[in-house]
Amino acid sequence: MKLPPHLTIRNGHLHVGGHDCVSLSEKYGTPLYVTSEDRICDHFRAYQQALSSRYPNVQVLFAAKANGNLAVMRALAQLGAGADVFSGGELALAREAGMPAKKLLFNGSSKTKSDLALAVQHGVKVSVDSLDELHQLDAVAREAKKVAEISFRVNPALEVPTHPKIATGLATSKFGIPHGQIPAAYKEALSCKHVRPVGIHCHIGSQILDVEPFARAAKVMVRIAQELAGMGVKLEFLDLGGGLGVPYHHDTDPAPTPEDYANAVMPVFLAGIKAAGITPELWVEPGRYLVADSTVILTRVNSTKTAHKRFANVDAGFNLLIRPAMYDAYHEVIVANRADAPLTTEYTVTGPICETGDILAADRKLPELAAGDLIAVLDAGAYGYAMSSQYNGRPRCPEVLVHGNETALMRRGETLADLTSTMVHPPWQR
Ligand code: LLP
Repeated sequence: MKLPPHLTIRNGHLHVGGHDCVSLSEKYGTPLYVTSEDRICDHFRAYQQALSSRYPNVQVLFAAKANGNLAVMRALAQLGAGADVFSGGELALAREAGMPAKKLLFNGSSKTKSDLALAVQHGVKVSVDSLDELHQLDAVAREAKKVAEISFRVNPALEVPTHPKIATGLATSKFGIPHGQIPAAYKEALSCKHVRPVGIHCHIGSQILDVEPFARAAKVMVRIAQELAGMGVKLEFLDLGGGLGVPYHHDTDPAPTPEDYANAVMPVFLAGIKAAGITPELWVEPGRYLVADSTVILTRVNSTKTAHKRFANVDAGFNLLIRPAMYDAYHEVIVANRADAPLTTEYTVTGPICETGDILAADRKLPELAAGDLIAVLDAGAYGYAMSSQYNGRPRCPEVLVHGNETALMRRGETLADLTSTMVHPPWQR
């Protein structure tokens, strides 16, 4: 199987960033998330470079929802990343990671008044999702005696080649304002005293492996920019969102790079802003591309059995990686302690959760397995730990970060006490 450069096989063992997964599993236990910081940084630099070599005024925002670990966000902040934040919690994480307020965009299709107040208090720009929200934000900013800078989230009504649950810019999606209504929304915003419209924003979906839809989205966005320019509005930023995917099937799926993305999008962007007579900052919001392949989950085989087919029952399930169950996502698996053994036997790798759908990997050719073997589930760095839960009374596992010669915990494992630490004893039961 084709592996990214930070994943190597030596002496039959899978290594992440040069660190032996077998040793890591012995040191930290299983299940275990293992992330290569260097891989994330390489991907960020590639994204930044691909765009800024074609246009100087670029800001890459990391979509914090993909991986909210502070160590990951700090590494990105040190390289100059901002963040797309989708909640007060993500805003707080981004600030704690060292990202300045001016590099953040508060997104969200259903914000509370306190979300809006938090954005105003921090001076974070807000991507407004409806006219109702616009007027609420105007009132919140008036109360705080401030002016909130905003963009509108544009719904570009685009079909994209991805799982329907992660297509976000369909005409039927819950996100954003239909593109035809954006000029009117802008006019409305210009009449609000405590709001200053400065940008437009869109996001068309996630895990997209064809760069052409991004060019189509850019076309919709620059057309709007031109229309706004005709109204006398010069946009200060244009945010094209994230969405670039990483291959599910390493040997057969396309693996578009930021260069491919830039080759498709930048000609449209550059011609469009020229026609509009503006030089806005170009913002992008990749999540998945930056972090997905940086991370593997190491999970131990508890038992094997042959029923109507062969099962390998492991110690991580959809409590730790819900993507296969939720989006039929395909994650490659490798037997990390015998990574060069011949693939002789078909297994379905199932987790410990009491759900029929708790399948991490179905019908995969693997070496003959036995209890104690160590399986690595690849490409788990985006929307993996971030979407984990304590379902079935399972404390979440630790996360380890590797960087150069060093490895360290970046999140301790939860304990049984963590399961109950937020629960309160109702007085009548005491
Ligand atoms: N910006 C906005 C406004 C978004 O809604 C998203 C993702 C992103 C950026 C980042 O997209 P990315 O580059 O990561 O594709 N949990 C799903 C993905 C949901 C994506 C929702 N929005 C998954 O595991 O596939």
